[in-house]
Amino acid sequence: QVPADLAGRRVLISTGGTREPLDPVRYLGNRSSGKQGVALAETAVARGAHVTLVAANVDLPMPEGVDVVRVGTARELQQEITSRTAEHDVVVMVAAVADFRPAEYADSKIKKTHDPGDPDAAPTITLVRNPDILAGIVADRGAATTPLIVGFAAETGDATGSVLDLARAKLARKGCDLLVVNEVGVDKTFGLDETSVHVLTRGSEAVTDLGPASKSEVSHGIWDVVARSLTVD
Ligand code: C5P
Repeated sequence: QVPADLAGRRVLISTGGTREPLDPVRYLGNRSSGKQGVALAETAVARGAHVTLVAANVDLPMPEGVDVVRVGTARELQQEITSRTAEHDVVVMVAAVADFRPAEYADSKIKKTHDPGDPDAAPTITLVRNPDILAGIVADRGAATTPLIVGFAAETGDATGSVLDLARAKLARKGCDLLVVNEVGVDKTFGLDETSVHVLTRGSEAVTDLGPASKSEVSHGIWDVVARSLTVD
């Protein structure tokens, strides 16, 4: 029995991975498949929500009843998310957004021998920072409590802290309401059908652990937490 606890709620979800073009045939990208965001969209519709899914380079069938907006780059994603944020009750940023993009785009394909003086030289690619979309929509919301903003974090843990320590710090830094954390590694999470996550809530020590389970089951667990947060507000 699927609860109808998102009935009438407008939900905006970003998913997939942005690609930052270098020239007409090459880009800098990442391994995000978009599966988690698609599963969140499908399960939110099942629970009664009206869902807009902003999909960055997602090569998957789209669920019935979801409004899909396709984007390529981080800046396109930013435009589509920020222009829609105010008219939604919940925004979930699942997309893997490239932190950097090439400083310059070459209008024609960069040739292997690009320097006539040195036929064996390799080009240097200079990168510039992309906007942090999640931090931007949190800042624009200001003191308001709507929409409820959910971030995702893929963490590996490192010498400075465990996955959960790093996630707590990220939740504080980003200022979103909920942070869904998954552990990533070479063969964890990206492109796989099963996942495990921890859901952290700003201002609370409680952590909800979900999985290992299908991305659909984990999505329902995330919506349980979101629906509770919406009711509390
Ligand atoms: O800091 P980090 O990239 O780990 O944060 C991940 C979260 O921030 C995700 O929700 C992702 O969608 C979002 N993000 C963003 N803009 C960026 C980088 C990440 O909105 N440039």
